[in-house]
Amino acid sequence: MVVNGAPRELGGDPQRSLLMALRNELGLTGSKPGCGEGECGACTVLVDGEPLRACRVTVGEVAGSEVTTIEGLGGRHPVQRAFVEMGAMQCGYCTPGMVLTAVALLERDPAPDDHAIDEAMNGNICRCCAYPAIRRAIHRAAEVPLPPPLAAAPPAPEVARRPARPWDLTPAPERDYFAVLGEGLVVVLPPAEPARGFANGGAWCHISPAGTITGFTGKVDVGQDNRTALTQLLAEDSGAALPAVRLIMGDTDVCPFDVGTFGSRSMADIGAYMRSLGAHTRALMITRGAERLGVPPAELDAADGIVRHLPTRQAIGYGDLVQGARRLETVAEIPPPSPASGWVTAGRATSAPESVEAVTGARRYPSDLRRPGMLHGAILRPPALGAQLKNVDLSAASAMPGVTAIQAGALVAVAAPDVPTARRALLAIRAEWRIPPQAAEADLVQHLRTHPTQAAAGGWGGSLHHEAGDVDAAPGMRLSATYTAPYIAHAPLETRAALAEWEGGRLTVWTGTQTPFATRDALADALAVDAADIRVVVPMPGGGFGGKHTAETAIAAARLARAAGRPVRIVWTRAEEFAWAYFRPAAVIDVRSAVSEDGRLTAWSFTTYNAGAAGIHTPYAAASQRIDYVPAESPLPQGSYRALAATVNHFARESHMDEVAHALGIDPLEFRLRNLQDERLAAVFRAAAERAGWAGRGPRAMGIAGGVEKDGRVATCVEVHAADGRIVLDRIVTAYECGAIVNPAGLRSQVEGATIMGLGGALFEAVHFADGHILNGSFAEYRVPRIGDVPPIEVVLVNRPEVPPAGAGETPIVAIAPAIANAIFAATGQRIRSLPLL
Ligand code: FES
Repeated sequence: MVVNGAPRELGGDPQRSLLMALRNELGLTGSKPGCGEGECGACTVLVDGEPLRACRVTVGEVAGSEVTTIEGLGGRHPVQRAFVEMGAMQCGYCTPGMVLTAVALLERDPAPDDHAIDEAMNGNICRCCAYPAIRRAIHRAAEVPLPPPLAAAPPAPEVARRPARPWDLTPAPERDYFAVLGEGLVVVLPPAEPARGFANGGAWCHISPAGTITGFTGKVDVGQDNRTALTQLLAEDSGAALPAVRLIMGDTDVCPFDVGTFGSRSMADIGAYMRSLGAHTRALMITRGAERLGVPPAELDAADGIVRHLPTRQAIGYGDLVQGARRLETVAEIPPPSPASGWVTAGRATSAPESVEAVTGARRYPSDLRRPGMLHGAILRPPALGAQLKNVDLSAASAMPGVTAIQAGALVAVAAPDVPTARRALLAIRAEWRIPPQAAEADLVQHLRTHPTQAAAGGWGGSLHHEAGDVDAAPGMRLSATYTAPYIAHAPLETRAALAEWEGGRLTVWTGTQTPFATRDALADALAVDAADIRVVVPMPGGGFGGKHTAETAIAAARLARAAGRPVRIVWTRAEEFAWAYFRPAAVIDVRSAVSEDGRLTAWSFTTYNAGAAGIHTPYAAASQRIDYVPAESPLPQGSYRALAATVNHFARESHMDEVAHALGIDPLEFRLRNLQDERLAAVFRAAAERAGWAGRGPRAMGIAGGVEKDGRVATCVEVHAADGRIVLDRIVTAYECGAIVNPAGLRSQVEGATIMGLGGALFEAVHFADGHILNGSFAEYRVPRIGDVPPIEVVLVNRPEVPPAGAGETPIVAIAPAIANAIFAATGQRIRSLPLL
């Protein structure tokens, strides 16, 4: 065949998949494995100009054809440029498949409308739900003439030498910062006492003689693009030019300790650290400039990485100021960060410099990584969830050439030279299991009500009880209702993956975790190895959404690598991802309220079973309140999810507020505003309503909902109509406020993505199960939002420069489900209290 313009001969079995041949034999990892069933489009390639799923095509079937992968476009195609320009990606894992499908579309139809775009792109899943930007990018590509080739961003700085011990485990005076990035100036911001927000180990940066500033943080970027926003903040306060500032994230050897990337804490915690670090760096540059020029510091300014003497215009670059230096500065007194109202670099729409790598296929995700001599690992799965291993016989698998088989507690796994051999080795293992009785899905509501536990699974705290006033005695009209939500799956487009390598008794694991330091600790525990001898590196994973917190894949890869004496990579199959990950918890929520005739809440009782306490408190005034979270024994494994239980708690609360408003005959928006205590949330409600035309909606069916979470405020207004017994979404407006806006482009992308991801949970996502089996564990059976599901969506960003920036990765997801439920009620008079709504 001809691959990307060059003739290639592929011998061997003609029945093997084209995807595996491209990736493993030709090293073209731009074609991504996503599902193995042709449902997600991540592996799309062009065969004689037509988009085909490389996972469903054999090498033999394309013999003699011309195959184009994303690498073959070479960064020259208008679609690639448009995807970068319009920020049409988050994690970027779907992007190569999206770009190639769009290329084929524009070949057929040079000016497609939205309908044609949706039809062509509907087979490609973007789990980050960047669909609106993808539409915009395709329109843009149709407009522009052939542009110059895309230039890749300068590569991220390399860690030149691994330190003898991870820096967070090394006393500060013993750290050799200069071994890592060479000479220059290192500025260290120790952790605040008491720690700001969640526990973390401060931050530091290195200024090189080339004038590059490299910041280090233990946070990771799983597609939410905190990298760009944090870079903007460091550039802003350090007075550096944005292209001269880079971040190294999530490398446990050289980054400060961080508890994990969750809870929308990147902006709130590390954003503040980057600003302080930057402000101190700028002050240092001015001091050094004053010394060098022999002038008072007060006569100097610093911007774009240059210190200028204002009276004489003499200038000296940051790089020149650190030539030959090996100087370490520790921030003792933190200068105040710059006010957001005067921002120059932050506050501007900025596309991620690394997005070029996503559209060209150059970005390597954990499942793309290879090491010399690498084996492929696979894990033996029990016959049912909760099954316990009684005994196992590895002898037949171990006897297979090149196979290493291990057992460690409940883990049974193999490593082999290729994936098919590893799968065959698993089949050769004889194991006996004990399968406990399982709760049935049909009994789930009753099960959760009747199986309370003391502590919640998933690490989000135990039970909660809050009581004020006397709920039972409060006057007014009473209403009560129960709301339910099912388990739903994160289903990141890249499944869990880890690559482990031992070298000289030290272990390195590359994996897409959201908690690199916790993963290191889990590895140390499991393997009985000093944590100082373990390095965890987090390349950008293909999505997380709260689902990539646990360390089991890393541990399995490390155990296999140790046993085999060679690097081992494990990549979960899609079926494993659906069945053996963990889920957003199912929920049962009882709400009782009392309200006076003039529309004031007098009592509010809210009990959530199982889901969690996030978002459980109400922003509405009610003198008497009883709030309870009752953890329950969960039939399925459950854990954190984007915005945790705030998704279901907002569904219940905002649905109920709507019910009360209708029962009183008061406009639902007016009822909310009358009872709101939070002026920032009220402003966001008004912004969404105004953009949606709420006041003048007449007979159009609209629903509205909103809330406060993680210091962000969201309100979503949805318009629907009923046609032929179906509900059709006509339009979504989401207004969002999270303080000072650092990167409007990234923020808009997060708001759109979260709203659409929430649309899936609202309309159709639900994990079905029976007897310890997941019944819909594939993209064919578990429906996630596709581009054709997305109505026109408008985002209103409310900027508050006087408020420190908060996160945006989670909160915008919480309002869409109740807004749709309320709109359905407006359209049909039918109140649906169980998710999914359709
Ligand atoms: Fe599409 Fe992440 S950007 S899956």
